[in-house]
Amino acid sequence: MPGTWWRGAVIYQVYPRSFADGNGDGAGDLAGLRDRLPYLARLGVDALWLNPWYPSPMADGGYDVADYRDVAAVFGTLAEAEALIGEAHAAGLRIILDVVPNHSSHESAWFREAVAAGPGSPERERFWFRPGRDGGPPNDWQSIFGGPAWSRVPDGEWYLHLFAPEQPDFNWTSPDVVNDFHDVLRFWFERGVDGIRIDSAALLVKDPDAEPDGLDPFTDRDGVHEIYRGWRKVTDAYPDRMLVGEVWLPDQERFARYLRPDEMHTAFNFDFLNCALEPEALRKVIDTTLATHIPLGAPPTWVLSNHDVVRPVTRYGRAGTSFDLQDRQHGAPTDRVLGLRRARAAALLAMALPGAVYIYQGEELGLPEVEDLPDDLRQDPIWARSGHTDPGRDGCRVPFPWSGDEPPFGFGGGDPWLPQPPDWKTLTVEAQDADPGSMLNLYRDALALRREHLGDGSLTWLPSADGVLAFRRDSGLTCVINLGAEPVPVTGEVLLASGPLQDGLLPPDTAAWLR
Ligand code: NOJ
Repeated sequence: MPGTWWRGAVIYQVYPRSFADGNGDGAGDLAGLRDRLPYLARLGVDALWLNPWYPSPMADGGYDVADYRDVAAVFGTLAEAEALIGEAHAAGLRIILDVVPNHSSHESAWFREAVAAGPGSPERERFWFRPGRDGGPPNDWQSIFGGPAWSRVPDGEWYLHLFAPEQPDFNWTSPDVVNDFHDVLRFWFERGVDGIRIDSAALLVKDPDAEPDGLDPFTDRDGVHEIYRGWRKVTDAYPDRMLVGEVWLPDQERFARYLRPDEMHTAFNFDFLNCALEPEALRKVIDTTLATHIPLGAPPTWVLSNHDVVRPVTRYGRAGTSFDLQDRQHGAPTDRVLGLRRARAAALLAMALPGAVYIYQGEELGLPEVEDLPDDLRQDPIWARSGHTDPGRDGCRVPFPWSGDEPPFGFGGGDPWLPQPPDWKTLTVEAQDADPGSMLNLYRDALALRREHLGDGSLTWLPSADGVLAFRRDSGLTCVINLGAEPVPVTGEVLLASGPLQDGLLPPDTAAWLR
């Protein structure tokens, strides 16, 4: 169906700094990514979502954007970005760009102008500048990365930053802000970008002067929807473009509001990502997801990982398999063999569900979280802002291992910006390519079958034993996942399984696709 490519798409998330380094400076870049497009096409994905590539002081991995209409020198040039978009399209891959509307960088032109212009100026109206209160910040809001959400400029005024001090929040009541982001969307759509991932999408509306009303003062305020109605109008002026929101909200009814027909096309399903690998919990998340999306006509998304969360292999190897942004369980014991086994099963589950699926780079290699990075190399602002109590997210951002027996594993010429564990030699693309039973080949096989039998649509639950989930898709393909303690019988021809069957039985922590 033209115009709805995202509904059943497989979207691969590229973290540009850690994917492939074309110029040997230790950081991934667009040249590296362009070289590796054939790998992505062969993997069988439909689109790439790229984390921010804009000029940035990189105080938060590029989520501190200094210029929304250019590319950071460390990644390349705007001309290279345009070439990449063209080459990706030629390879059958669409491009989704990350736009960060909640905050900019303290080095953006607008923020510098605001600081220079002084209190009461129209330049300061684009952000949240306020006088202090009793010698301290204007209110007691805390930053999501830890510490107060306010910092001071030299003339004594404070400005709001829900994340790091290098990320001043925009004031979305300013028409300048509203109009400029419409223009940013057009700028990239004109260059052929197929979709926009909206960062921190639920946080844009806030009023630091308002009396507390018992609601969260900056998350999911009602006024935020007006912003996305405006974005949708801009987007609809271009054929086949989509918006996908980063909307972390526990309340499904509130979450669904972002997916109304005049707002975003889709949003990430964090309930599924957070969910423990347990049958009742999963079934509940799947049912709730379908129940909230289907009446709106919005396609569900199925997400197991991204650049902010603990890698599935590590998470699923722990006693508690759920994920909680507030507690990454850093250093909790994990069984990597069990974790990999479960991550393989979870992948077949996610890929069989109706809707779109997101794959974070390295998920297809079964990379584990790197928990033992040297502290002095950690770059995530969470590490410093938490007073060195939370190591943050660097462990899932370690550069990608392509080939060879030792670091940098074909990533590029120099020392990668974060060190790769030497034992990743068994996890490289090259090593897994040669092994039909590897995680990489499981992903390739699954994506090839998915193209034929799965994607957008609906499912029918089938009766199943305790600890087992089984459903049939419209094409007739059945997915069974055994999360119980005993092997279970399955019926039909096995098209693909996440692990070998034992005497025709599906073992624990294993999933299969049958016909
Ligand atoms: C969500 C992004 O995924 C994360 O990496 C970033 O730190 C915050 N938004 C702030 O932009």
